[in-house]
Formats: sequence, structure tokens, C-alpha cells
Amino acid sequence: MKGSLKDDVAKQDFEKLGLFYLGRPYDLAKKKPKEGFLLYDSKDLVTHAVCVGMTGSGKTGLCLGLLEEAAIDGIPALIIDPKGDLGNLLLTFPRLTGESFLPWINEDDARKKGLSPADYAGQQAELWKKGLAQWGQDGERVARLREAADFAIYTPGSSAGFPVSILKSFGAPAQDIRNDAELLRERISTTATSLLGLLGIEADPIQSREHILMSTILDTNWKQGQDLDLASLIQQIQTPPVAKIGVMDLDSFFPSKDRFALATKLNNLLAAPGFQAWLEGEALDIQEILYTPEGKPRMAIFSIAHLGDAERMFFVTLLLSQMVGWMRAQSGTTSLRAILYMDEIFGYFPPVANPPSKVPLLTLLKQARAFGLGVVLATQNPVDLDYKGLANTGTWFIGRLQTERDKARVLEGLEGASASSSKKFDRGKMEQMLAGLGSRIFLMNNVHEDEPVVFETRWCLSYLRGPLTRNQIKLLMDLRKQKRETSGVRRQVSGEAVSPALHASGFTPHAQRPVVPPGVPQYFVPIRSTQPRQTTPVYQPMVFASCQIRFSDSKKGLDITQDLSVLAPITGEAIPVDWDHATDVGLTVSDLERMPAEAAQFAELPAAAGKAKSYESWNKDFAGWLYRTQKVELLRSPSQKEVSKPGESERDFRIRLQQAAHEQRDQSVERLRQKYAPKITALQERIRRAEQAVEREAEQAKQSGIQTAISVGATLLGAFMGRKAISATTVGRATAAARGAGRAIKEAKDVGRARETVAALQQQLTHLEAQFKAETESLAAARDPLTESLEAIALRPTKTNVAVKLVALAWTPHWVDSQGYSTPSWR
Ligand SMILES: Nc1ncnc2c1ncn2[C@@H]1O[C@H](COP(=O)(O)OP(=O)(O)O)[C@@H](O)[C@H]1O
Ligand SMILES: [Mg+2]
Repeated sequence: MKGSLKDDVAKQDFEKLGLFYLGRPYDLAKKKPKEGFLLYDSKDLVTHAVCVGMTGSGKTGLCLGLLEEAAIDGIPALIIDPKGDLGNLLLTFPRLTGESFLPWINEDDARKKGLSPADYAGQQAELWKKGLAQWGQDGERVARLREAADFAIYTPGSSAGFPVSILKSFGAPAQDIRNDAELLRERISTTATSLLGLLGIEADPIQSREHILMSTILDTNWKQGQDLDLASLIQQIQTPPVAKIGVMDLDSFFPSKDRFALATKLNNLLAAPGFQAWLEGEALDIQEILYTPEGKPRMAIFSIAHLGDAERMFFVTLLLSQMVGWMRAQSGTTSLRAILYMDEIFGYFPPVANPPSKVPLLTLLKQARAFGLGVVLATQNPVDLDYKGLANTGTWFIGRLQTERDKARVLEGLEGASASSSKKFDRGKMEQMLAGLGSRIFLMNNVHEDEPVVFETRWCLSYLRGPLTRNQIKLLMDLRKQKRETSGVRRQVSGEAVSPALHASGFTPHAQRPVVPPGVPQYFVPIRSTQPRQTTPVYQPMVFASCQIRFSDSKKGLDITQDLSVLAPITGEAIPVDWDHATDVGLTVSDLERMPAEAAQFAELPAAAGKAKSYESWNKDFAGWLYRTQKVELLRSPSQKEVSKPGESERDFRIRLQQAAHEQRDQSVERLRQKYAPKITALQERIRRAEQAVEREAEQAKQSGIQTAISVGATLLGAFMGRKAISATTVGRATAAARGAGRAIKEAKDVGRARETVAALQQQLTHLEAQFKAETESLAAARDPLTESLEAIALRPTKTNVAVKLVALAWTPHWVDSQGYSTPSWR
């Protein structure tokens, strides 16, 4: 078959062009697949997709295929799996043998067929091998899938898979969310609603006093950047951080005995036997979930089949809220960065009701595009979707639908979507197509393409055994858990910076501030912590130094300016200030105060610190020390000529490089498309006309046996161009050229000449294909940013690039108790 995927070139090229291989176009009238491939442009997914169809229509198969393509392309996904089917993504067996299938088969099915498990497994393996082959796939592609990404099943509230800790989800959101009033309000409200839901309290955000109290507590703490956990939440319900709610006195608004009842409910939840599982394991940190510690993309499957309804809602809402936060922290992009997939959205995105999950989902649908996050939602129940929220969804995959009502609802949704993309909508034609769909046959309506297409989904690389059991999840994940622990990939929380050597005793505090001569610059470090009982604020003298250092390398085009401020102890020794003991305590010149706190005492000032000329020599020493010790270490990608940012880890740099590579590739693909599409259109038109001419001439010459039309649609080229809209001007130019050619052919005198024309044109087409192939191959040859070796760059400043801004006496505040123990109070 022409253009078959067995063609090695086709198989390899597609996988690197950002095109997802989803299936083959399907001829509804003839009830069989057409030639060619259904290739979906990954960047179209940033406008999201919905997949609807009755149970068994093949939705999960289609979306699983899409996720497999994403994985192969290095796109991570967060997958919410209410039914348990998505864990099948971990059932990938490159050797396709019975033994590899055996532990995963459905033994009931084997029994029903009267087969031994081993025989049944052999049959299943055979079925998969054949199925894959029919779609031009093989074990090698399965292996590629396994290699391309990390696959993990997370089980919130259970330890079968990776457990998930929800504790951190009550932590104060990141600064950029806290600065966005609307987003913060949204996060507070959804957290309160879902938490109350878990307690069995269905709370109206405006009416319910439970909701208002909970929101007030979250708001008060988060605004101050204060994290909460369940224990502190319980405590604060009893003793809220506010005295009034609105204009009402707290106790009349929500009497303390009722608050106690609410706190008890939350406490019971916390004390319930199974609840511990919710508090262990990985925090819901999306960036950590989407990439491995090495920066490899991960398909993270959140299996929630084992949870009750309230728990599911609670968890999904938390997860979606975290996703919103993660999304906001990403840079803008036009390429696909990650996928959020939810299998069976039933109940989470209904048209009328407002469950807590709906708010973050709407936010994602509205905003995720700019950040390259594609949301894919599947449902068997079209009546249960909020079509208003889906009006901007770019791609609709519609499978077989059961009832007329379902069809009517989907058509309504489609109509809404095409209205907001100002596309014409042929309801009658659409209705007719929908009526003809069968199992695994879908209609794709993609606003980025000219017209809807019917296609058959390709065979899944993963073994679709159906929902995994708890034990199977455990079996799959236990191995991975061990690997994690032994390789020690979990990152350690780094310890506090070592504080400068401060002498806790051996000084006599004075109420009087030592007098220093006018030439000594003097400042006070502000107090930042609250005063412990029975302590006195005492200022101790240190040197504060601040500078700006420029690191530059004009050959590499690098120019980085860094500000640094440090505090160093002053001793009574021969060298009173040793800059090797200086520490960066996160203070800048503007943080310093001119006046001390009231009622503070002062430690003695070492003699050197009272002389103006000491500061001049410390200034020189400081500059020399900076010159000797300061450097910036960066990584450089030779393939992308990109350099990491100061402070950016290798993992984060590699993640950024991957996204940049995707963007570059997508742009090159677009350029190729722009370059070749008009040429192809023109050639195809000329061939068509030339064939007509042959026919005409042949007719006249009363000859028979004319060559049939040549199909160009199924070639690599044709498939690659897809059904993409080509701009009106390029098409115009192409057809004008074709018309000219047509006229020339009309003048052709005999059949032979006309035939020669066809042959010549075909030759040209072959040539064009070869050119195209060469160009795509050079695109595909790009280095993989995940594995390429990075060059280490160390930049040191020149003497002139070290600018000391200030070296001054800094009085640093401490809390000193009656025993003379002192704790710094500026942190
Ligand atoms: N792409 C596919 N490759 C192989 N088998 C498939 C595929 N799609 C569906 N199937 C088969 O059809 C069954 C039902 O499809 P599924 O995708 O689970 O339907 P839905 O999610 O719409 O209920 C699957 O269990 C599987 O056996
Ligand atoms: Mg399904």
C-alpha cells in the first residue's frame, strides 16, 4: 500500500514533527478506511479538546492513543482517572509475548472462553501484535513509548500507587497568585467548598457560615503568606484569627460551641483510620509531578476509582486548583507544553449545578492556552457538559451516540464552538455523519482545519485490559517505588544557611547606644520576629556590605549583573573582619533602618568598629574578596545555543530547553508547510488537468486503457499537509499557475505528448517529495535536550566589574533571655 506506515521513513519522521498519529480517515459510505493517516497537530491541542461518545464507542482508546503520542513527543500529562482504565498506559510490552501479558489479563474472560490463563494471554498478545501491525506499528514503537517518558500511578488516600499528600495544598499559594485578587479568592473559595464537602457539608459560598468562616481563616493566613495544615485549621476554627466577620461580632455570627462542633468534625476526619494515607507521600506539586528529577516528562495518572464521591470531588478540586497555580507560573508559549486529561468528566463540569471542581476547570479552559496547557475532557454523557464553558474548545472528537437527545446536545455544543470561531456550520451534514459512526469511528471537528473528518482510531500501544485492580496497581508501582528509594532521587530539603558566628555570651549589654564618630556609617537591621517572653532586644555590631558585580563574557554574549549584600561579624582579633565568615541574609540597603527599636540594649563595640578608617580598609578587603570568590556557574546547550539562568537548576534548564525545542520544531514545520503546500496544490492540479487532457486525447484517438487517476493524497507529503487551511493567497497563486499549465496542455497535439506531460509532472512530484523528505529528516535530527551533554560555563568578574556600594556598621537585633542566650530576631 502506498504511504503505508510500514514505510520506515514515514514512521520515524512523523514522530518528530509534533504530529500525533491518531488513526486513519474513514469512508462512511463505503464503510472502510481510506488511505493516509489522521495526523493531529499537537499545537492545536492548546485550544483544548472534548471527546464524547457512548460507553464502548472507543473514547478511552482514542484518548489513550493521544496520550501515547504525547509521551512519544516528550509532552507530560496529568491524567485524572475516575474509572481506572488509564493505568493501562503502564501495560506496554515491546516483545509482545504471552508471558508479558499473563499477569495483566482478565482471568474471568479467560474462564468464559474456557481457556487457561496462559493460553488466553497468548491469544491476547497475538491480538495486540496483529492489531498493531494493521496500523503500521510494532514492538519497537512500544519500546519507544516506554523510553520516552516516565509513567506513574498516584493513588490519593491509598498506598497502592504513589500516595499523595494533600497537606501542602493548604499551604499559602505562591506570590503571583496572592497578588491576583480574583485568583486568590477563587482558590480560597474552592478550597473551602471542597473541604466542607469532605465533611459532608454542602456549603453555599455566600450563605453558609461554615464557608464564610473557613474562607476568612484561609484568607487571613494566606494573605500573610502563612501556611495552614489541617491541625492548625482545626485550632483556628475554635480560635479564629479575626474578632469580627463583616460587621458582626464573631460569637454572634458563629457561636463558639457551634464552631467547636465544626472543629470536631474536621478532627474526626483527621483521626479516621484510613485518613493517614492522605497525609503521606508526595505533595501536590505539579512541576515535581510532571517531570522526573532529571527533567524527563512524566505521564502522571491519578487513580481515584477507590474513593467515595465526596473524596473524589475534594481531591479533583485540589488538584485542579494546584494546576491553575502551576499554569500561572509558566512562561507564555504557542507550542503544547503539557496535557491535562480527565476521563469521564461526569459530575465535575455540569451545565447547571456548581460543584467546586467547576471553578478551576473553567479558569483552566479560559487561560491555559497562553501557557501551552491543553485540556482534554472525555464523557459518555453529553447532557452533563457545560457547553457555555466549552464554547472555545478547538477540537471535538465525537463518537457513536446513543440517544437523539445526546446527538441534539452535541450538535448544539458544536454549533456554539463554530460560532465562536466564526466558522460555518452545516448542521444537516453533521447530523448525517454522526448517524453513521460506529465503534472506534469518530468525527473530528477541529477549528484549525478546513472541515470535519471522520476517522478510525489507531490501535493502542498499551494493552487495554480495562480497569486495573488495587493489587495490580500495587504490583506495577512497588517496583518503581523501590527504584525511587534506592536511587535517592527525592530531593532533600536543604538545611538552613549556617548563621554567622555570634557570641551569645561574654558581652555586657548597655542601655546606651555606643557613640561612634561621624565618619562611621551606621544602620539598624529591622526586627522581623515576634519577641519571645522574658527576653530583651539587644543590638550586636556587625559589618554590612553591599555590592553589584557584573559577570560578562562578550564572546559568549553573556552579561549578568548580580546584587549581593552580606553581614560579617566583627571581632576583637588582629583581623577583626574576615569576609570568609560573611553570609547573605537576604537584606538589601533599602531594608536598613536609621533608628534603633525602642527600649533596646546594645552590645559593646569592638575598637576597630569605632574607627572610620577601618571601614575604608574593609571596603578594599571586601572588593578583593569578591574578586577572588565570586562566580556564576551556568550551563549551555550547544544545540540550542541557549544558556541557563543564574540559579536555574540543570533539571529546570533541561525542561525549558525541551519546550524551546518544541517551539522551534513547530515553527519549522509551519515553514515547511507554507513552502510546500502551494507547490503541491499546484502540481496536483496540473496532474489532474494533464490527466484530463490524456483522456480527451485518448477519446479522440479512440484508444482505450487509460491510466486511472493518480492518488497523491496518501503520500507522506499529503498526510503531512493534512487538511490544514492554506492561506487564500497561496491557493490563488497555485491555481493561477495550474490554469496556465492547463491551457498549455490544451494545445497539446497528441495523446503521447499529453501522457508525457503527466509523466513529467509525476516526476516533479516525486522530486518534490524527495526534497520534502530531506528537509523533514534534517528537522528530525535535532538533538534531544534531555540527553545532550551541556557545557559548563563559569564566569568570574574582572576587578573593574566589582562595585562595592556600601560597607557600614550594622546593628543586628537579637532576643536575649535572662541566661544570656541570644537568638537573631531579624529573620
Ligand atoms: N484504539 C484501540 N485499540 C485497541 N482496542 C480498542 C481501542 N479502542 C477501543 N478498543 C477496544 O474497545 C473497548 C471499548 O473502548 P473504550 O475506549 O474503553 O470505550 P469508551 O471509553 O468509549 O467506553 C476497549 O476495552 C478495547 O477493548
Ligand atoms: Mg472509557
